Amino acid sequence: MNESARLLEVVRLGHPGLRAIAEAVPEEWFSSGRLYELGRDMVRTMIEEEGVGLAAPQVAEGIRLFAYWVPATEDEAEVPPMLLANPEVRPMGTEQEEGWEGCLSIPGLRGLVPRFRRIKVKARRLDGEPVSLTADGFQARVIQHEHDHLDGVVFLDRMTSISSLAFEPEWERYVLASEDGED
Ligand code: NI
Repeated sequence: MNESARLLEVVRLGHPGLRAIAEAVPEEWFSSGRLYELGRDMVRTMIEEEGVGLAAPQVAEGIRLFAYWVPATEDEAEVPPMLLANPEVRPMGTEQEEGWEGCLSIPGLRGLVPRFRRIKVKARRLDGEPVSLTADGFQARVIQHEHDHLDGVVFLDRMTSISSLAFEPEWERYVLASEDGED
């Protein structure tokens, strides 16, 4: 990681930028120092804040750009930090599954959110090169969560019931502990 990357302020729910439709990254921004710098700072901020995703509107930049990564698990390799600009996200199939989400802009809360299990993504890299990928499971969840931020949508809006909403310490104590016990 570049040592000159800055830690950005993550805005929280109530900031109007989180409820706005972000603008496409302008063509002239690709390959620019301005975009590389923002991307680098977003990745550093995401990692230091212990998030797995961060969208530009969360750092008060109203453009269609997000960073994400997926830590390694027992079953799957790490997806290293990625930056996607002007993404288009399409479900592959209709299958959805519920999973727990949190958000750096809604600190301290977790909730169950249904997401498409498999998705197809078309986007641009910061140098402007097109990139397309498919994702499933947790990676697909993270991308759908971040993509929502570009349309002013947060995970609370996607919950089918607010009844699972929990503070993190209680979630760890009562929910995670019982789910671990099921394995
Ligand atoms: Ni979020």
